[in-house]
Amino acid sequence: MTNLMDKIVALAKRRGFIFPGSEIYGGLAGTWDYGPLGVELKNNIKAAFWQSMVYKRNDVVGIDSAILMNPKVWEASGHVEAFTDPLVECKICHERFRADQEDEIQSHEKSHKGKKTEWTEPKKFNLLVEAKLGVIEDARTKVYLRGEITQGVHVNFKNVLDSTRIQIPFGIAQIGKAFRNEITPSNFTFRSREFEQMELQYYVNLKEAQKWYGYWKEERMKWYLNLSMNKKKLRFRQHEEGERAHYAQDAWDIEYDSPFGWKEFEGIHNRGNWDLSQHQKESGVDMTYFDQEANKRYLPHIIETSGGVDRTALFFLIDAYREEKDRIVLKLHSKLAPYKVAVFPLLANKPQLVEKARSIYSQLTIHHSLLPVAWDDRGNIGKRYYSQDEIGTPYCITIDFQTLEDDTVTIRDRDTTKQERTLIQNLNNYFQDKFSV
Ligand code: GAP
Repeated sequence: MTNLMDKIVALAKRRGFIFPGSEIYGGLAGTWDYGPLGVELKNNIKAAFWQSMVYKRNDVVGIDSAILMNPKVWEASGHVEAFTDPLVECKICHERFRADQEDEIQSHEKSHKGKKTEWTEPKKFNLLVEAKLGVIEDARTKVYLRGEITQGVHVNFKNVLDSTRIQIPFGIAQIGKAFRNEITPSNFTFRSREFEQMELQYYVNLKEAQKWYGYWKEERMKWYLNLSMNKKKLRFRQHEEGERAHYAQDAWDIEYDSPFGWKEFEGIHNRGNWDLSQHQKESGVDMTYFDQEANKRYLPHIIETSGGVDRTALFFLIDAYREEKDRIVLKLHSKLAPYKVAVFPLLANKPQLVEKARSIYSQLTIHHSLLPVAWDDRGNIGKRYYSQDEIGTPYCITIDFQTLEDDTVTIRDRDTTKQERTLIQNLNNYFQDKFSV
């Protein structure tokens, strides 16, 4: 891992963004726990996704389907057969790797210090995680933890259609956990065995598939740019022949220029009518759509946007990280920052200051829903600024002796470090402008 990654991992642990899963028992490879700040960051990412993909549109509805599904779903979707990675084993130490991860293979070969490393022939390794359901030992049913959140949407295509007034073209969005038995979990949360996805399945008429494919590619790139991700660190990459997942007719990744290379964190796929036709064939349920305008039935085609919440959170953290003179600062977009504002009484041992600061804290949290607001009364103001910069809090409010005289406070801006004085009664409007509270 690079120096920058070491710093991000250390910051994430130190400040409560991300902890290794089950750490006190030695951890569990490929699992991560999100701490008090991490859960806010992730929730903010998911809320921003839902806002732009569901609330701001009248052609998309949401769903929250079960993680456990009838195993026939995964046979029909092709995952039992084809959701595989090529696995190779080092003949010296028997460690296993993905044959298509050249950098990992090379770095492993180097670890054998000049010894010629031989590898077994690649064999297909299925990524679905298995579980057993039921109470009678011999009759327990083998099920799979979903390898993508997608299938829960497609099996409900008819339910959504029949229970809403929505018509093609329309989409179903979902956010939720997915599980993959990754051969080599690596690069912090980047390749995990348990992770969250945020997806849209958009159903269209075949004739319009290409048009919508282009549209959703652009929309998803814009979403990251609107949340201030550095444009120079983003690119599209089309999957080559032979690289595409079994369900995809075309696939473009949005990649980020990370400390460990250009890496995918969202895939935009043209799934054709693969999913609906497979579920129609295997379940016997008619999955066609009646197009009133065209007066005919057809199986819609699916354009999918599939982002990883954890990879997105990681790349937002990396993208926002700066070292400036005497401070570390996370320049996160205010929509994503775990705390929007921090409130400081200048001195913790002056009850009048603390009382005034407490009332401003409640004014912001309760009356103006500026949640969550940080409170800090430890150490000197400089240390408190340092501490809030490091977790990306956009504004710090200090209540000092002048506040007791004229009801004004200082507001300090994270990015410019400039301070201005304003009346307490103006705080609401001030933040309304900044955050559209
Ligand atoms: N439904 C389509 C689908 O699942 P994918 O490209 O396999 O497509 C989509 O996954 C996104 O899910 C990826 O771009 C990535 O952000 C996230 N993802 C996939 N595997 C992951 C893993 N092992 N760890 C963390 N995130 C992962």
